[in-house]
Amino acid sequence: MIRNSTAGYGWVAIAFHWTMAVLIIGMIGLGLYMDDLPMSDPSTFAIFQLHKSIGFVVLALAVLRLVWRFMNPTPALPDSMAAWEKAAAHLGHIGLYALILAIPLSGWLMVSASPWNIPTILFNTVPVPHLPVPAALGTKEEAEGLFKALHSLFAWALVALLAAHIGAALKHHFIARDGVLKRILHPVKG
Ligand code: HEM
Ligand code: HEM
Repeated sequence: MIRNSTAGYGWVAIAFHWTMAVLIIGMIGLGLYMDDLPMSDPSTFAIFQLHKSIGFVVLALAVLRLVWRFMNPTPALPDSMAAWEKAAAHLGHIGLYALILAIPLSGWLMVSASPWNIPTILFNTVPVPHLPVPAALGTKEEAEGLFKALHSLFAWALVALLAAHIGAALKHHFIARDGVLKRILHPVKG
C-alpha cells in the first residue's frame, strides 16, 4: 500500500506526515531557542546554519508532498462527521500546507534581505543563493524586519493550528472512535 486509497493513506503519505511532523515541531523549538542565543557565541552561527538547513529540507519535502497529494486520492472523511466539521478539517489542512511553505519561504526572504549578507550553506556543503528582495519594501533593515515578523507570526499561527489539529486527532480517536487517527499511523484496507 504505497499509494492512498479513498479509505486511508498509503505509506508514502504516512512517511511524509510523520517525518515532517518531527522536523517541524523540532524546528519550532530550535527557532525559539535561537531567540535567546548571544550573537557573540561561536556556536550561534552553527545553530543558525542548522536551522536554515533543516528549513530547506522541510520546504523541499512540502513541495514533494503536495505533488504526491495531487497524484493520489484523498481519503474521504467519515460520514458521521457534520458538514461543518469536514469543512473545518479541510480548511485546517489547507492552512497547514500553506504555513509549511510560507514559514521556510519567509525565513529565506529574511536572510536574503539581511544587511549582514550571511551566506546559507546547507549542512556545510551546498550554498543557497539569496532571493531577490523588492526595493519597494524599503531599506534592507526594513525588509529584514518585515520578513522576521512574518516568520515569527506564521510560526505562532502554526503552533495554534497544530494545537487544534492534534486536539481534533485525539477527539477522533478517543471520543468519535472513527479510525481517523489510525489511518495516518498505518494503511487500512479499503
Ligand atoms: C502529534 C502530532 C500529530 C497528529 C496526532 C496528527 C494527526 C493527523 C491525522 C489523524 C491526520 C489524518 C486526517 C484525515 O484522515 O483526514 C492528519 C493529517 C494531516 N496532518 Fe497531522 N498530525 C500531527 C502533526 C502534524 C504536523 C506537525 C503537521 C504539519 C505542520 C501536520 C500536517 C497534516 C496535514 C497537512 C494533514 C492532511 C494530509 C492530507 O490529507 O493531505 N500534522 N494528521
Ligand atoms: C519548517 C521550517 C521553519 C520553522 C518551523 C521555523 C521556525 C522558527 C521560529 C519559531 C523562530 C523563532 C521566531 C521568534 O523568535 O519569534 C525562527 C527564527 C528564525 N528562523 Fe526559522 N523556521 C523555519 C525555517 C527557516 C528557514 C528556511 C530559514 C532561513 C533560510 C529560517 C531562518 C530563521 C532565522 C534567521 C531566525 C532567527 C530570527 C531572529 O534573528 O530572531 N527559518 N524560526
